Amino acid sequence: SIGEVLTCLKAGFPAERIMYTGVNVSNAELEALVKTGCRINVDSQSELERLAKIKTDMPISFRITPGVASGHSSKDMTGGKGAKFGIPYDKVIETYARAKELGFDVKGIHAHTGSGGLTTEPFSEVVDVLCGLVNRIKDETGIKLEFLDFGGGIGVPYKPQDPECDLDDLAFEICDTIKDETDIRTVALEPGRYIVCDSTILLTRVHDVKDAGVKKYVGVDAGFNTLIRPAMYDSYHYVALANKFNKACTAKYDVVGPICESGDYIAHERVLPDPEEGDIVAVYCAGAYGFSMSSPYNSRPRCAEVLVNEGKAELIREPEEIEDLWRHQIVPERLR
Ligand SMILES: Cc1ncc(COP(=O)(O)O)c(C=O)c1O
Repeated sequence: SIGEVLTCLKAGFPAERIMYTGVNVSNAELEALVKTGCRINVDSQSELERLAKIKTDMPISFRITPGVASGHSSKDMTGGKGAKFGIPYDKVIETYARAKELGFDVKGIHAHTGSGGLTTEPFSEVVDVLCGLVNRIKDETGIKLEFLDFGGGIGVPYKPQDPECDLDDLAFEICDTIKDETDIRTVALEPGRYIVCDSTILLTRVHDVKDAGVKKYVGVDAGFNTLIRPAMYDSYHYVALANKFNKACTAKYDVVGPICESGDYIAHERVLPDPEEGDIVAVYCAGAYGFSMSSPYNSRPRCAEVLVNEGKAELIREPEEIEDLWRHQIVPERLR
């Protein structure tokens, strides 16, 4: 989003090294992006025509729909045939030709198949598709592309028994294919989850322990307002009692939050060492799609963030207060 681009600029990244990929992008957002000087990776024919009216001197590229989908959940697969993302495969050549006609400097091709899959096959498949298109674009439109970007999506092991992606093998295979089959010498990838996921542990306090007969519950103060992945994707996060690491586990519990929906859970059926009020549950791998997907649902302010470095903890985001939730609300005069 433009918000992400502005955050990158604030963090000191030069505009020309930022590539924006959006979907269903508004004219206002396109205008703001052009002002920043970042690169735009165009998602649709409509976006191309609208960008042409604004004009940018920066090189552009296109996100295409490769017909290859991957991801940890069907909600996170973005590259399959008919997806809402990218230029549909059978419209790719005409779109590059149109961009040339409009006077754009088109430098690249991009695809992002989805997020969090643990196998490398989709990357090999998508690179094959992109290489084929690079050659067809050259032959059929005369555009010699300079870079190929196969997106993000590298998965991480959330469960202790999950395998790690073999990135060395993947890199060799992909680079060989690209070198052998095309003139492209610049390859880009966009790993998000892979970089930040295991950097972060969510700490949440136990306030309630309940034996409901058929089930035992550990009630904590983080629900899907704080970490939505379990409720939204049925995602697994490893949990442990941070203050009882070496204690023997006693029974199975569901770790559940303070939100008014039965879908509000952090972990199902986990063996834990005699949880009690006041204990702290550590929820692992909360660094990707964690805080950024959190919300103030049920009027529960968002949590603080703390950076730990060599044993020293520094507050890097203040916890929200209830007043923060009211800040943008307006009560019309007639209702006061
Ligand atoms: C275009 C694009 N690139 C990269 C990413 C990062 O994906 P991941 O965190 O799975 O690596 C995303 C995530 O939505 C994306 O939409």
